[in-house]
Amino acid sequence: MKVHIAEACGFCYGVRRAVEMASQAEAGTYTLGPIIHNPQVVERLSRQGVAPVQSLDEVSDGAKILIRSHGVGPAIYEEAVRKGLEVTDATCPHVKKAQQDAGKIVKEGKKLVIIGEKSHPEVISISQWGVNRAIIIDKEFEAEQISFCDSMGVVVQTTFSQEQFKRILAVLQTKTNHLDVHMTICTATRLRQNAAVSLSGRVDAMIVVGGRNSANTGRLAQVCREQGCPTYHVETAAELRPEWFHGMKNIGITAGASTPDWIIQEVVKIMENLQAEGTEVMSEELLEKY
Ligand code: F3S
Repeated sequence: MKVHIAEACGFCYGVRRAVEMASQAEAGTYTLGPIIHNPQVVERLSRQGVAPVQSLDEVSDGAKILIRSHGVGPAIYEEAVRKGLEVTDATCPHVKKAQQDAGKIVKEGKKLVIIGEKSHPEVISISQWGVNRAIIIDKEFEAEQISFCDSMGVVVQTTFSQEQFKRILAVLQTKTNHLDVHMTICTATRLRQNAAVSLSGRVDAMIVVGGRNSANTGRLAQVCREQGCPTYHVETAAELRPEWFHGMKNIGITAGASTPDWIIQEVVKIMENLQAEGTEVMSEELLEKY
């Protein structure tokens, strides 16, 4: 059996930066919400004294807080100033750009449409920078329901599927005279999706590693399945079952942007041990990172 690792997988720039900032934070620092959608990382940080809170009401005046890569709306920064909090801002620069674009679109008097998941914290933060005036959609039929306007500005969730974005955009083009598109899908997502599509077309099964509550990990599993490849989404190596891979020759591994290297490494090692004879790990580049 050969184990192939996707060319691009695991921590993206923004998540790595946020996790590093949290790891370097003093014990007693709070993260506003879990730092990333990965329970193992959140637990590790909690043991170091960097724990999540749900809202600023839970922290006392003068406390230290860290804003995660998903970003937050302007009201949180204002509240932090009122409470005298020491803020470390780990908002991913790509998310910051989407937030600024949303604000600009509203300022210019255009109808703001955000393409993304309504309940995702990043989308909520973008919408708040758009003064909560955004229409948030993630399906074509929702785009159909938008009434015609003279000018419209579009911002996209950084981890949104490119294909679905293009389909929705085609509908939005019929809904306005002037369409101002801010293509805020991040390259990290695109690279991981493309690598997953390419690898899943060449292997007997794919293992997608990452938190079940991670939207981008779930989407990687989805694109692999769309290739017709049997796909297993696991959070950790402990979930792997040898019977899934019985009689298979080539297994692909990919991981979401919020999956740390050590969890990917554990999966690789288990797969190596599954059939020590003849097992070969293809991506030297990834292994060098461990
Ligand atoms: Fe940032 Fe892109 Fe990651 S937006 S958090 S680098 S997926």
